[in-house]
Amino acid sequence: MLPCRNLLSSFAILATAVFFVAPVGIVAQSSDATCLPPYYWMNNSKAQSPCVIAAYLMTVCAVTPVVVQQLPPTYHYAGPYAAGQSTCACSTVTYSAFSACAICQNATEINWSQWSFNCSTVYPGSFPPGIPSGTPLPQWMFQDVTKTDVFNATLALSVGGTLILS
Ligand SMILES: *[C@@H]1O[C@H](CO)[C@@H](O)[C@H](O)[C@H]1NC(C)=O
Ligand SMILES: *[C@@H]1O[C@H](CO)[C@@H](O)[C@H](O)[C@H]1NC(C)=O
Ligand SMILES: *[C@@H]1O[C@H](CO)[C@@H](O)[C@H](O)[C@H]1NC(C)=O
Ligand SMILES: *[C@@H]1O[C@H](CO)[C@@H](O)[C@H](O)[C@H]1NC(C)=O
Ligand SMILES: *[C@@H]1O[C@H](CO)[C@@H](O)[C@H](O)[C@H]1NC(C)=O
Repeated sequence: MLPCRNLLSSFAILATAVFFVAPVGIVAQSSDATCLPPYYWMNNSKAQSPCVIAAYLMTVCAVTPVVVQQLPPTYHYAGPYAAGQSTCACSTVTYSAFSACAICQNATEINWSQWSFNCSTVYPGSFPPGIPSGTPLPQWMFQDVTKTDVFNATLALSVGGTLILS
């Protein structure tokens, strides 16, 4: 597999039926998605939303910084294409960040099995490249999603958004 590949052309936003490749920006790792106030607990200790954290996580394996686009209603973030699989995209930590990012926008998350469909190797509960500097990860992003197959925001809240690993 390719551990570090430019995912700009291989990372997509997927609609319930039709998907398109997101026009991912190249300025800096960031997100133009806005979380609704009831989900501010998902922010890390630097007040970064899970969408910004997701951008940081994907940028580790990208050639140019990833921008996580806002999600239109009823849309969800898709996992990597086969050619875009990486230790970043195939980590449950990244999946949990994107799931939280979708939920905080009142959009939809997909199952872990759907997200990781194209991953020949998956990384449950770990982020092999190492936590990127500049974005502390909440403890709940390490939730075990392999048993239930889906990120559980209620469980994440009960774990707490303030426990930081870096
Ligand atoms: C959380 O992040 C959002 C951006 O999505 C920001 O508008 C808000 O002020 C942050 N709130 C806290 C408490 O960190
Ligand atoms: C898997 O990747 C292929 C392209 O390599 C893509 O067409 C397909 O939509 C992907 N499947 C999922 C479930 O993401
Ligand atoms: C969230 O989405 C539902 C429909 O999926 C809608 O009924 C509700 O008004 C939305 N809430 C907000 C705050 O946008
Ligand atoms: C996850 O997959 C199951 C079927 O395996 C489905 O019933 C459920 O709705 C899916 N959940 C999400 C969030 O996609
Ligand atoms: C999510 O977690 C909560 C709290 O542990 C639990 O009550 C609920 O059943 C879980 N939901 C799913 C779909 O597993």
